[in-house]
Amino acid sequence: MLAMNARDKAWLAELSHEHPTPFWVLFPRVSQTHYFELADAFSRVAKKVMICYSVKTNPHPRILDALSKMESGFECVSLRELENVKSFTGPKILNSCSSSDEEITEALSQNALIILDSLSQAEQVARFAEKKPLSVGLRIRLDHHRFGFSPNELRKTIEHVSQLGLRVTVLHSHPGTNTTLKSYRQFMITFSAIVKEYPFLEGVDIGGGFPGSVSLHMRHEKLSDYANVVREQLGDFLSARALYVESGRFLSEDTMLLVTRVMHVKSVEGQAFALLDAGINLLPRLTMNPYRFHALEETGARKASIRLAGPLMFGSDELGQVSAALSVGNALVVENTGSYCTEMSWKLSRDFPKIIVIE
Ligand SMILES: Cc1ncc(COP(=O)(O)O)c(C=O)c1O
Repeated sequence: MLAMNARDKAWLAELSHEHPTPFWVLFPRVSQTHYFELADAFSRVAKKVMICYSVKTNPHPRILDALSKMESGFECVSLRELENVKSFTGPKILNSCSSSDEEITEALSQNALIILDSLSQAEQVARFAEKKPLSVGLRIRLDHHRFGFSPNELRKTIEHVSQLGLRVTVLHSHPGTNTTLKSYRQFMITFSAIVKEYPFLEGVDIGGGFPGSVSLHMRHEKLSDYANVVREQLGDFLSARALYVESGRFLSEDTMLLVTRVMHVKSVEGQAFALLDAGINLLPRLTMNPYRFHALEETGARKASIRLAGPLMFGSDELGQVSAALSVGNALVVENTGSYCTEMSWKLSRDFPKIIVIE
């Protein structure tokens, strides 16, 4: 976690005068620190633990490179992602519900574990698999979404895909992103009960779902609490099997900051507003990141509670509130923009900001 102290703020304020705002600042090493924490928390949970970073959360080449140096594997959902990790030697997973023929052939050429989501996808994989039987995973549906196979159709599905030359060796489910410890435990109780009915499995893929360090801190939870839930529910089963962890947010959420600037100030019916050059176009709510705003400079007349709004002419383009003496030209920094932000940002009316990498 990046603790924002006065020195960091002064350094960022200086940076804000060297580069046009808004811009992102990326710290690839932060992902390495979190990788180490994740590997440590899960180290004794299974015979073999394979952390496969969920590339969609932040596919910046420096993050991928930094994680690859930690011997991370990668979980991909598209051809672009597979190509971005092609040169890395760690384990790969393709976990997609709408795979193209090119994606399947690329995944097979990289020896990626393919997680199946539908029978038509199983037929597609079987068409391209040269070596049979091919080990595959099956995604289990535990909620009301459309992904994966329902637990009560699993036996039939396993038999069906084996006739296609595919051997199910891994079961997978994903608890959803940014889960609370309570809902994670519920997920793991349900998932582990299903998994244990299939003793022939060689591995279990538990997806991602761990919050970033700021949310963990705010909820008084620790990553090791989540690892303990997996150990409690699946420890015996995993003592002779592999565990795949597809973490994204935990590894990347605080790897990036966004620096933005106050373009104008105004008062609307007594409420003070600072109008910034970044809004929900770069800080979408859909990311579920706990954005935190800090003024880097305060040249206004007095401290006041001021609402932060973005550059879009949409009523919804509001970001939050700070207590600061803001005036036109002052820079602000937004923490926790490392997960999903660059991928979900809109290129609406403006170009994407530059990313400054700090090694
Ligand atoms: C299948 C799968 N695995 C892993 C992830 C990464 O989740 P998180 O960023 O919560 O770790 C996602 C995110 O949606 C996912 O759908």
